[in-house]
Amino acid sequence: MKKRLFIGGEWVEGSSYYDLKSPYNGELLAQIPLATTSEVKAALDQAEKAFQVIRQMTSLERATILEKASQLFQDRLEECAQILAKENAKPIKTARTEISRTIETYKFAAEEAKRIHGETIPMDAAINGKDRFAFTIREPLGIIAAITPFNFPFNLVAHKLGPAIAVGNSVVLKPANQTPLSALMTAEIFAEAGLPAGGLNVVTGRGSEIGDVLIGDSRVKMITFTGSVEVGLGIREKAGLKKVTLELGSNSAVIVDSVNDLDEVAARCVEGSFAFSGQVCISVQRIYVNRQLYDSFLEHFIEKTKSLVIGDPQDEGTNLSAMISPAEAERVENWLNEARNSTANIVYGGNREGGILHPTVITEVKPTMAISCKEAFAPIVSIVPYDSFDQAIEYVNDSDYGLQAGVYTTSIGQAFDAIRKIEVGGVIINDIPSFRVDQMPYGGVKNSGTGREGVKYSVEEMTELKLVSFKL
Ligand code: SIN
Repeated sequence: MKKRLFIGGEWVEGSSYYDLKSPYNGELLAQIPLATTSEVKAALDQAEKAFQVIRQMTSLERATILEKASQLFQDRLEECAQILAKENAKPIKTARTEISRTIETYKFAAEEAKRIHGETIPMDAAINGKDRFAFTIREPLGIIAAITPFNFPFNLVAHKLGPAIAVGNSVVLKPANQTPLSALMTAEIFAEAGLPAGGLNVVTGRGSEIGDVLIGDSRVKMITFTGSVEVGLGIREKAGLKKVTLELGSNSAVIVDSVNDLDEVAARCVEGSFAFSGQVCISVQRIYVNRQLYDSFLEHFIEKTKSLVIGDPQDEGTNLSAMISPAEAERVENWLNEARNSTANIVYGGNREGGILHPTVITEVKPTMAISCKEAFAPIVSIVPYDSFDQAIEYVNDSDYGLQAGVYTTSIGQAFDAIRKIEVGGVIINDIPSFRVDQMPYGGVKNSGTGREGVKYSVEEMTELKLVSFKL
């Protein structure tokens, strides 16, 4: 029941603990150590030593560790999925999908480890460059502090740990308080895969205290964070000259303009709005529908929503379960009440039972309402009609966020218009903004963050470019 910290390849007892409970039924899952400042410093000492080992390894040796880890996740897929169903109430089918993605992310990292390279520079293109030969190399940074969220606790750790190891960095990982078990399982798997001791250290406990130690230590060369805008801004303010990658939130939108199969598109939008109770940074929160399709789309959408099964995350049939905490469900319930008291019409759902918020469909929404302009991170979606494609693009851009947007259109002209005009990190044509595969660049503009993940892109973020110039 009592879990331990993972420091320098050893399992270390904590001096105090917190209770980890299931968000679904409150069952006590484990007692988790609250790492002290000296334990975090010890993790950094070990990461510093390990960096000297990992940076000397060949690309092939690092790739082999990542391949082995990927294989071990494959062997333990069901065990890992059950951890998710318990610690963050992810419905078991969705949990298995996350583990399959994790396996693939580490495979991509193993492949990237073998192609970390620079380029030759045509020096003689400059007046003073004659008789020079130059090239670049990519070098690891050192210690990476990874601060990760509860929503994809295996795969979003993989997006930080995989590329970090691929290039020869070491990592101190601070997982979200609600999802330490997945991080500790990841540590176990990497130890078995042959990662040198100290290559990955896991410190659990109070986010702001641990974060401050990590950010304040000059040995940490980069902070990679996925989470809220507020915390992300705090990290950036304190980080000084350290590299910082921030994957923050969004209130993602999809435009439904012209489609071949409205039923199929409605079903896909339902999936994007309610998968994992909307606790996904690219969950569909706003749907803008061509007025000519609006009534029919709404009808299909509600019909599909009615078929979602709400219940125990460990049941095979469950589509939606409890949110990460009752407080989160209450927060969104308050937003819904505020919207109800204004013009909004809750056409489906809206009710809360403890930590479970039922899938909720809202119309007559104003852009200034919290349910529309803030990141909900909850199973709620607004469906709004528009009269012209330009107006739809304006609606999408009327947001402080810009992670991904979806556009359904049968017109190639409109697709390129949207690509040019929509202010986001990724435009997804003929699918929902929630579409992601793990090798594609992923990240946002505006309040959605800075930097890109997607293994190859993280490799760029996690290395320093060094120029070498020869005078011939
Ligand atoms: C996120 O919530 O940022 C991750 C979404 C995903 O990987 O599908």
